[in-house]
Amino acid sequence: MHSSSPLPESSSDQPSQPQIPFVDLSLQHRPIQADILAVVEKTLSRGDYVLGQAVAEFESAFAEACGREHAVGVGCGTDAITLGLRACGICPGDEVILPANTFIATLIGIAQVGATPIFVDCERATGLLDLAAVESAITPKTRAIVAVHLYGQMVSPLGLLQLAERHDLMIFEDAAQAHLAEREGYTAGSVGLGAAFSFYPSKNLGALGDGGMLVTSEAVVAQTVRSLRNYGATRKYFHTDPGGTNSRLDTIQAGVLQLKLPYLKRWNSDRNRLAAYYDRALQPLTAKGIIPMQNVSKAGHVYHLYVVRVTANCPVDRTVLQLELNANAIQTGIHYPTPCHLQPAFQSLGYSAGDFPCAEALSQEILSLPMYPGLTTAQIDRVVDAIASVVSREPVSTLI
Ligand SMILES: Cc1ncc(COP(=O)(O)O)c(C=O)c1O
Repeated sequence: MHSSSPLPESSSDQPSQPQIPFVDLSLQHRPIQADILAVVEKTLSRGDYVLGQAVAEFESAFAEACGREHAVGVGCGTDAITLGLRACGICPGDEVILPANTFIATLIGIAQVGATPIFVDCERATGLLDLAAVESAITPKTRAIVAVHLYGQMVSPLGLLQLAERHDLMIFEDAAQAHLAEREGYTAGSVGLGAAFSFYPSKNLGALGDGGMLVTSEAVVAQTVRSLRNYGATRKYFHTDPGGTNSRLDTIQAGVLQLKLPYLKRWNSDRNRLAAYYDRALQPLTAKGIIPMQNVSKAGHVYHLYVVRVTANCPVDRTVLQLELNANAIQTGIHYPTPCHLQPAFQSLGYSAGDFPCAEALSQEILSLPMYPGLTTAQIDRVVDAIASVVSREPVSTLI
């Protein structure tokens, strides 16, 4: 064994800065770790590993939090969309409208039902579904609108409800990024016939693995998803629905989510407060083309992600800025770099570049900055200072 080993050589003269991760889940798990382990022990002692007591308890608590009568735990958010749409009566051949700038799971959920996805553009300032574009995309085959509450902000519930009533359409909410978000007096999940949530670990309410939930106020929709998630069975070994699958929220995951649910409001308001701090700190950089996505729902925005646009007025492009932040030990993300209508897997839908200018422009200019409960204002200052130093640098030609 070596008695001493040489220190690693530093690649620069600068003292290296601590990493600011994009998300740090240890901050929310460490203080409740003993309670999490108690959930595991409880499941072990009860032995109710699948569809156990914690699943039913968490379903009731989550339904109540969303202001709905029923919640059905499933394996992931994608399954909540697929099984939810099927239970809401969407069939092969139905046209279902969705925004082009969403996570691929929204599209996969619609495609798995056999419905025809119809993309529409989004608003440049918020990234949310453009309701005027929805109206133009409606045909006699349109059955539903899947409203994606992107980044933690709801699509206007009043706008959606008026549109749906005018055209006799069903609303389904993809609320995977918007647990307890609010707008115009509505809570995410309380607007549509059904709504899907994801409990992927980094979501505002996250499990320790995959998980999802369908919420609804229609008993028949809830009952159908209960059957679909359990091989299409209506009672043990008696299967009435050929669309059934195995997609259940694990008992241990439900127990952990039940434990975390009481913290969610506080975590969401921490995110909202941190976003307001970012907004203020970034204000001087709007002149340099760094524009935060617009918050039109004030305290109701739950900031699953804090996203800025690196616009054409910015002297550096998004890729350069992201690389420079990374070099400064600041992790960022892009949600999402390729709009759904341009994904190779769905080429057969027949869309091409240029079809949705706002979604395509956003995909080139958005950058998600670190955002999680427990992020400090000092860390935000460091992120903003790092952005300021990159975008304020003199162009290379004038330095030579
Ligand atoms: C908008 C949106 N919809 C659906 C999903 C799918 O959720 P899951 O990953 O739990 O299947 C996600 C999660 O990543 C999402 O962000």
